[in-house]
Amino acid sequence: MTPAPAPLEPDRDEGIRIVVTGKGGVGKTTISAALARLLAREGRRTLAVDADAQLNLAAALGMPRDVAETLVPLSHHHDYIAEKTGARPGDGFAPLMRLNPDVDDVVSRFGQRAPDGVRFLAMGTLSGAGGGCLCPENTLLAETVRAIGLREGETIVLDTQAGVEHFGRAIARGFGHAVVVTDPTYSGIGVALAAARLARDLGIPGVHLAVNRVRIPDDRRRVRADIEARADGIVFDSWTWLPYDEAVLAAEPSVETLLADPRMPFLVAVRALATTLTNDRTEAAS
Ligand SMILES: Nc1ncnc2c1ncn2[C@@H]1O[C@H](COP(=O)(O)OP(=O)(O)OP(=O)(O)O)[C@@H](O)[C@H]1O
Ligand SMILES: [Mg+2]
Repeated sequence: MTPAPAPLEPDRDEGIRIVVTGKGGVGKTTISAALARLLAREGRRTLAVDADAQLNLAAALGMPRDVAETLVPLSHHHDYIAEKTGARPGDGFAPLMRLNPDVDDVVSRFGQRAPDGVRFLAMGTLSGAGGGCLCPENTLLAETVRAIGLREGETIVLDTQAGVEHFGRAIARGFGHAVVVTDPTYSGIGVALAAARLARDLGIPGVHLAVNRVRIPDDRRRVRADIEARADGIVFDSWTWLPYDEAVLAAEPSVETLLADPRMPFLVAVRALATTLTNDRTEAAS
């Protein structure tokens, strides 16, 4: 494992909080992993959080296979959930369940080490747009997302499940940037626009479009035209074009080997996205 980079001076490291969303299979996890690793390499204290039940982010970050394949998401730690909320998942209605459990210790208890000094948290899926059911596990996860959004001086990259159903208040609160990922397809763009609209409605200050798997110049023209036709007032704060890159598939599931060559076209594009996000003052100004 590469040694962790020296942290930025505390007064330079304000931390940025990024939620990555979009249609299934468009590249959310790959981009989240590369972003987290690159931001950590800049010396930022970085926490990568997997909010998808599939838990692919650990492998993408380059964590050892045996660790990545045996992860238990926070939503399955029933003892912790019971300790914090006073109610055990599956026990039925719990009239005295704590709705605002104190989960400040969640990262120190369940965070794991990933390469480049990235901290990793396997969270699991939050159900329902507004926070979902009033069950102990969902209450705990919603509070975890909130607590993560409040961590000072830490950069957060939150990888989410496909679609927009889970994407609601609990996730949006505290996040300054939404990276909406699409591929150059009609359906990908449809989900991206829905996610962008939600992100705006939820008050996320920076809403950024990342168009992934771009192969030919015509892809850009088609995506631009399609978004112009369907955006209905949605404006993105930035656009990043990420090329289709065989090297990404060859490296799959990890971004490790991509990071070894800084000239890899995909990596160059993720670095541009990282720069856009770190230079975007929308969050700070809000
Ligand atoms: N720019 C790219 N060029 C080539 N292959 C890519 C590129 N980006 C992602 N891929 C590949 O596409 C597949 C899906 O990527 P990834 O798992 O990151 O998508 P996802 O949006 O997280 O999917 P899910 O919705 O299932 O979580 C992976 O095999 C990945 O290696
Ligand atoms: Mg994924």
